[in-house]
Amino acid sequence: MGQGQIESSTNTPQLRFPADFRWGVSTSAYQIEGAVTEDGRGTSTWDTFCGEPGRIIDGSSGARAADHYHRYREDVALMRDLGVTDYRFSIAWPRIVPTGSGAVNPAGLEFYDRLVDELNGAGINPVVTLFHWDLPQPLEDAGGWLNRDTAYRFADYAAIVGERLADRVGMWITLNEPMVLTNFAYALGAHAPGRTLGVGALPVAHHQLLGHGLAVQALRSAGARQIGIANNQAPVWPASDSAEDRGAAGFYETLVNWLYSDPLLLGRYPDGLEAAMPGPVEDDLKIISTPLDWYGLNYYNPVRVGAPNAQVRHVDSFEMPSDLPFDLPEIEGYPRTDFDWPVIPDGLAEMLRLLRERYGDALPPIHITENGCSYADGPDATGRVSDQRRIEFLDGHLRALRQAMDEGADVRGYFTWSLLDNFEWAAGYAQRFGLVHIDYDSMARTPKDSYFWYRDLIRSQAVGGA
Ligand code: GAL
Repeated sequence: MGQGQIESSTNTPQLRFPADFRWGVSTSAYQIEGAVTEDGRGTSTWDTFCGEPGRIIDGSSGARAADHYHRYREDVALMRDLGVTDYRFSIAWPRIVPTGSGAVNPAGLEFYDRLVDELNGAGINPVVTLFHWDLPQPLEDAGGWLNRDTAYRFADYAAIVGERLADRVGMWITLNEPMVLTNFAYALGAHAPGRTLGVGALPVAHHQLLGHGLAVQALRSAGARQIGIANNQAPVWPASDSAEDRGAAGFYETLVNWLYSDPLLLGRYPDGLEAAMPGPVEDDLKIISTPLDWYGLNYYNPVRVGAPNAQVRHVDSFEMPSDLPFDLPEIEGYPRTDFDWPVIPDGLAEMLRLLRERYGDALPPIHITENGCSYADGPDATGRVSDQRRIEFLDGHLRALRQAMDEGADVRGYFTWSLLDNFEWAAGYAQRFGLVHIDYDSMARTPKDSYFWYRDLIRSQAVGGA
């Protein structure tokens, strides 16, 4: 069987999406670009964090990553052949404003100018994320997202990028997964900057949300259209029916799912959490709830939550503190990815239902801004990368998505994570999420079977769409 003729038993019956459905792939700057000291880029929190012993499981960093900064033309060509309508990538704030405030670096803007032009030339709509976790280090030194000022610096940066690119960018994302930043970066210490503040990290949630609202306004003033945010949300399943487990699951769900989307979509914090937030919260909520054009959902898998117990748990490579007010027992009975995440496509449909139930008419149209899986498959002796499990993962999730849309979910697009194998944060390079395999020595790009499967799926939609 040659490349491009991927047979898949999972491909029947035909998956059908609306003719104007957007098909995309996602990446982020620090995970693929490399070139961290080139063309005037400033230092980010991730450069610093990776330099600290023991932070990254394989001792690696994004210093070279997938070398996309030098190979972006090749990567855009791969996307053109893939046939995606949209490409979601992030802009490295330290390339644009190297110290986080003050002087703008023209070479940084020029890189994204070239990338956006290359994409438009290939007929691909650029979807720009402004912040995918790589904060300029000088802002972190001044308190990072614990400092209210960072929200205003973020809005300044949004205005600079908006003014430069709004005429050629079709969709915007302010923040990627503010929940993960609050919890992993400032509460638990698993991500840069590695702070372990526990509940003391809550102001990080508020300042990101404020920064988001200010950035929406700044982008709109710069002429940007189609502005959204990418939130990581998943169903929370209580470990049992006991009052203790249900209570812990409810608390977790508030902290992880609703703490971000309630202020955005309803203009208020859930369950009295407003009292834990700094600043003139009521006034801030008016800014935070500035209407969005669309809502981005990053979905990976549901979470099982029970009452706390003394057991040591790991989330990915990270050992969770034992004094958390909940426990995260494993979900059993499902296949697992090589990252040990359970594969539960119906969880996507369930999350879409939960969002509709909670927000009703206040929920804007949705794009699935990330969904994907880590499997380590590499080239065989003939150079082919046979990643059938990824095909099954994508097929299963797209079927669940189609079902959810039939039941009323207003979903306009799907972006798989990721175009390329890349630097998977604290897990380094062992976890491979790409449709395209990267040989980190030669930097050779090899499209995997899943790439051809996705290409065929996108092509098939053009023939008499649903
Ligand atoms: C998301 C994140 C991505 C990527 C992905 C897979 O949380 O936005 O950058 O790492 O998870 O773990």
